[in-house]
Amino acid sequence: MPITILDQRWILETDQSAYVLGLNTAGKLAHIWWGARLPRAVDYPRPVDPGEWSSFDTAAHRTPLEYPGWGGTDYTEPCLKVTFADGVRDTVLDYAGSQLVNGELPELILTLRDRDYPLRVDLHYRLHETTNLIERWVVVTHEGSQPVTLERVFSAQWHLPADGTYTLRHTVGRWNDEMRLVREPLMPGCKVLESRRLTSSHHANPWFSVDRGSTDENQGEVWFGALVWSGNWKLAAEVTEFGATRLSMGVNDWDFAWTLHAGETFTTPACLAGYTHYGYGAASRLCHDYIRSEVLPHGKTLHPVLYNAWEAVQFAVDEPSQMRLADLAAEMGVELFVVDDGWFKGRENDRAGLGDWTPDLRKFPRGLGPLIQKVHDCGMRFGLWVEPEMVNANSDLFRAHPDWVIQFPTRARTEARNQMILNLARTDVQNHLIDTLDRLLSENAIDFIKWDMNRNVSEPGWQTVDGDPREFWVRYVQGLYRVWGTLRNRHAQIFWQGCSGGGGRADLGILHLADQLWTSDNTDAKARLRIQEGFSQLFPANVMEAWVTDAGAGNTSLSFRFHVSMCGSLGVGGALDCWSAAEREEARSWIELYKSIRPVVQQGYQYRLLSLQQGPFAALNYVSKDGSQGVLFAFHLDEPGPAVFPRLRLRGLDPQAVYRVEGVEDTRSGAAWMEDGLDLGLGCLESTVRRIERVD
Ligand code: DGJ
Repeated sequence: MPITILDQRWILETDQSAYVLGLNTAGKLAHIWWGARLPRAVDYPRPVDPGEWSSFDTAAHRTPLEYPGWGGTDYTEPCLKVTFADGVRDTVLDYAGSQLVNGELPELILTLRDRDYPLRVDLHYRLHETTNLIERWVVVTHEGSQPVTLERVFSAQWHLPADGTYTLRHTVGRWNDEMRLVREPLMPGCKVLESRRLTSSHHANPWFSVDRGSTDENQGEVWFGALVWSGNWKLAAEVTEFGATRLSMGVNDWDFAWTLHAGETFTTPACLAGYTHYGYGAASRLCHDYIRSEVLPHGKTLHPVLYNAWEAVQFAVDEPSQMRLADLAAEMGVELFVVDDGWFKGRENDRAGLGDWTPDLRKFPRGLGPLIQKVHDCGMRFGLWVEPEMVNANSDLFRAHPDWVIQFPTRARTEARNQMILNLARTDVQNHLIDTLDRLLSENAIDFIKWDMNRNVSEPGWQTVDGDPREFWVRYVQGLYRVWGTLRNRHAQIFWQGCSGGGGRADLGILHLADQLWTSDNTDAKARLRIQEGFSQLFPANVMEAWVTDAGAGNTSLSFRFHVSMCGSLGVGGALDCWSAAEREEARSWIELYKSIRPVVQQGYQYRLLSLQQGPFAALNYVSKDGSQGVLFAFHLDEPGPAVFPRLRLRGLDPQAVYRVEGVEDTRSGAAWMEDGLDLGLGCLESTVRRIERVD
């Protein structure tokens, strides 16, 4: 049984981990255990009652409450902050019952109620047993009559074992430089990571990984998690004065408020978290598996090799030039031809057109039909770029609805890339987008949409709102999910790519809608390797769209650039009409190879072998789930210098089985490849891709 109830404790077990909570002697719902699964339910401890340290540090402050509300003498980070109608701003949450839900997955609901006010808080726990993940979310219900205001409602607080000192890993970045992996000790105090930008952002990602001891890629304890949300978020990693470590995560409470009227509920986004004692690599593989099997709309579908001319031509798209490129792309074996920005009315540059989603008749006098037909005749699928949430002042949409943009009317509005954001919190704006995009998709045989978003919010005003304008942050994201979700349902055959100027909205929320993500606008292969390492911490290779472009062509060979992109979902974005026939032929052969290894790369297990954090080398291998096939990629990034490429030990093979590694004469056992490894002897700026095959 994955959920056991024993002596007022709830024991939640996945294949390898356990999470236990229970009622302490004061009757409070307290956290007890998160870590390895023990052989018997009775082995798990009982709640600890830490007692009072002083009048400044009461038992309430020291108790690891499972979901603390702000109130009393607990000064640790709360999950819930409420102002009641009479002005009281203190919550006292008592345990009020539990319920096991018989759904597809095991689920537990624990109910808390405020002692004096009609507020109910349901804590939901859903178990993903094979991926060792626990999914938590919270539903707050107002059971009284006078409105209450929620000012913070986190999805979860995760307590780490009390006896540890921990290291936090997370990513930071900026546009063109996303997903830099950072590792730092958690010290007493509170480390906050967040976004206030309306998207999950390039700058930090709603993902965490915490470890203790000598954890590395292959061994050691890791606690990890991510928020299923595409808007403002917050992670508060707190180490108390008494050495307790807790991570609270949820919608950011910055400028947030939500009014609950009688009978209304507020449901938080889910927060997923897991535990493994097999290192960072295992934590990533659990996330990859979960994303492919339970999040992605087309998780098992292999992603096509695409061509996108954005970097090659920018806004200069028109029917004849795109048709020429389509011929060249098809000859190389490309399967999906995508027309990026610049195709719609008035879009000569980034100062006009956003909002008017009809073809520019100067560029496409016959509409998109003939180009789509041509692409289909070439045996490729057709994709199109849109940026639905945005509008330029120079557009028919803005001229008709200037009040639809986010702004404070008394303030000058800030434009970024000459564009403004439509207020998707408004139902009329949502309906307009659904109708407009539905028409575009119904009138044209489109197979793929790239959904972009190229700025962050400013002056978050909402003029026509009936309630609290600070609901905007959540209602916008809910509106986005509604628009995109409706279109997804109506056009189920379409494959979607999420993008926000590269990786500005890479999160588990958007992956319920988008099949893949545009990883970064930085397509220089050397820079990409670092970005891809950060991206792979949470996201599987099929989600990571990676183009071979002309960026970095001066110092990296075409093969090096292909090898880097072949580690993810391969695309091409170079100026094909400037490539020589020999280059296009070489590209054709890499695409052919990629198609043969694609099932292993996109659906297999990924093992990071060498990290750019340790030296100028990167290497990783993928292994199919049945252990019969693998692929090895290795890169030496150094400029000419003394670094010698290290001996590589492969991972994830069956130790008893015998494997051949392409380019090596002898076959060897999986154990030999993993324990002894192989010498690739890669020189500066050399790379290799090798197939691995089980031969016994
Ligand atoms: C930003 C994206 O990341 C690029 O790939 C491209 O689509 C441009 N926007 C187009 O404006």
